This record gives sequence, structure tokens and C-alpha cells, in this order.
Amino acid sequence: MADKSRITKKYSNGEITIVWKPYLCIHSQKCFTGLPEVFDPAKRPWINASGAETKKIISQVEQCPSKALSFFKNSEGENQFSGDSETETVIEAKPNGPLFVYGNILIKKPDGSEEDRKNVTVFCRCGNSNNKPFCDGSHLKAGFKG
Ligand code: SF4
Ligand code: FES
Repeated sequence: MADKSRITKKYSNGEITIVWKPYLCIHSQKCFTGLPEVFDPAKRPWINASGAETKKIISQVEQCPSKALSFFKNSEGENQFSGDSETETVIEAKPNGPLFVYGNILIKKPDGSEEDRKNVTVFCRCGNSNNKPFCDGSHLKAGFKG
């Protein structure tokens, strides 16, 4: 059976396909404050790939800090989407926010399970996440400073 926690959804406007990985979202709200014509959490489906021109959608998707949103050009196919990197691992502690780890990594969890993550992984630094060790955006509500 498919692992529900790793569900990926796709929305196409015929030219590009927006790929949405909810399990990577850190609720930074950049997408729906930046381009509400396309990203509207109050609607179902919440992504309307025809709501704006392709250039605007690409520019907005590229601002998603956690890579929960990505895209590929339909003419090139899914493996072309941006973000795959062979670079060494870089770690960045965001002011008053989570720990961004850039690179492909293997996470060993407290319950003994392991998980591969690619490109960017966002870890909780505030202790309030309900999805530890990952950030789920709770630092905003908690007013985390550090
Ligand atoms: S992390 Fe990405 S998908 Fe989630 S709210 Fe922020 S911009 Fe949108
Ligand atoms: S740092 Fe985001 S939930 Fe803790």
C-alpha cells in the first residue's frame, strides 16, 4: 500500500506541471501570499495551475523554501525538474526558524527507522514541531526566537 505520508500531487497547465509534496511543506506561506490566483488553501484543489501565466508560476514555485513545491516542463518530462544537486551538504540555521540542510542525506530516526531525503530537508530547531525531527511551521505560532 502507498505510504500516505509521502503522497505527491501534480497539477498541469499543459505547459508545466507543478509538483506538490505536502510532507515537505513548512507552512512558510510564501506561495499563497505571493500568488493567490494559483495557490489558495481554502479551495479544493488548492492549486489552480491555470490561474496565472507560466512564468509567474515558475518564479513563485522557485521561492518555496523547503522544495515542497517544484515543477517540470511537460516537454522535458519529470526528471528535469530543478533542485537536484550533487553539491556537498550545507547547513543553514534560519534566524528564529528551522535548520535547513541542503544536500542528499540519510536520516536515522529515534525509532530506528531510516529515511532518504533529497535536495533540501528542514529540521525543527524550536522544539514545537508535531512532525519531529522535521519543521512543520510551528515555530511561527510559538514565536520562537533564536
Ligand atoms: S513551504 Fe512551500 S508549499 Fe509550504 S507554504 Fe511555504 S511556499 Fe507554500
Ligand atoms: S523550527 Fe519550525 S517547528 Fe520548530
